[in-house]
Amino acid sequence: METESTYQFIDLFSGCGGMSLGFEMCGFSPALAIDNWQDALTTYTYNRKGAKTLCADLSTIDPYQIKAQLGTKKIDIIIGGPPCQGFSVAGKRIIDDKRNTLYRSFVKFVEAFSPKAFVMENVPQILTMGNGIILNSIIHDFENIGYRISYKILTASDYGVPQNRRRAFFVGTPDINFKFPEKTKEDPITSKDALSDLPLESLPNGSSYTSSPNSPYQELIRRGSKGVYNHEVTVHTENTRRIISMVPDGGNYKDLPIELQNIRKVHIAWTRLNSKKPSFTIDCGHNHHFHYEYPRVPTVRESARLQSFPDKIFVYVFSFLMVPRKSILYDKELKME
Ligand SMILES: C[S@@+](CC[C@H](N)C(=O)[O-])C[C@H]1O[C@@H](n2cnc3c(N)ncnc32)[C@H](O)[C@@H]1O
Repeated sequence: METESTYQFIDLFSGCGGMSLGFEMCGFSPALAIDNWQDALTTYTYNRKGAKTLCADLSTIDPYQIKAQLGTKKIDIIIGGPPCQGFSVAGKRIIDDKRNTLYRSFVKFVEAFSPKAFVMENVPQILTMGNGIILNSIIHDFENIGYRISYKILTASDYGVPQNRRRAFFVGTPDINFKFPEKTKEDPITSKDALSDLPLESLPNGSSYTSSPNSPYQELIRRGSKGVYNHEVTVHTENTRRIISMVPDGGNYKDLPIELQNIRKVHIAWTRLNSKKPSFTIDCGHNHHFHYEYPRVPTVRESARLQSFPDKIFVYVFSFLMVPRKSILYDKELKME
């Protein structure tokens, strides 16, 4: 992760760096990560000594100015997943729709840097929204700046992630039609394969593992880690613990007595992971998805495991003051005001 490879990338909407990590594992090096959420960037730099980050609103920054500040550094690939809330189904040219400034910024970055390739991911519905208007616009907008697009919906559990996350991936290159890899896993990794070595109770950061790995996945995910981090359990009320204890492994609110079924009025209420299957999609800040066995929601470490973040990646929550200095300096240098 620390060594510079031949291929340099920029991660747009980087968050804490999940997509960056995948590229790093394939030998690419991050030149810059941009997000407007400082806590996520703090995690990003904490796990990558010396990484350059920029905390900024991607809808307003000028990629040409960033390019000038990066100097002679050649960017080979641009990656990222623009949030999709702004996509309009009304207009024919989404690039001209003010609500889609985030998607527009991705196109502008590709135009400014002319990378060898880009990878953009989004929710699967993006392919069908507005009877394909959005998809056609994406293809059109990238073709307009000289890129050929290949796209496909991929499911993370087909590639060794214990999570049934489906996402649309767009790959663009100036000259070749990209071929997506075939699935690598016939038997998906289950949530139990991912979590069964982590205990019910909290562990202080850096604790030794309390058991040996119970699966090849656990062996792999522990590699290089000095101990257990981010395993702090949510303390639920007695009533919540009582109710979730009535839901079986893989069950949901429908398994509760009828009088308890409507306490939480959402369709995902009182859902437990299924120990024999990959996890459902992990989203942010949920409090409806519970561990398959324990009467609590998964810890940050467990959620990271389900998303295939190695245990050595520390989720550094909070505190602007503790951002590694280089990142603060770089942030100031690139500020677009
Ligand atoms: C789905 S997350 C990205 C996850 C990331 N690709 C990963 O693999 O870890 C989307 C990110 O977009 C960021 N974001 C949303 N609006 C933004 C904006 N206007 N400018 C910059 N970042 C923004 C959010 O803070 C969030 O971290």
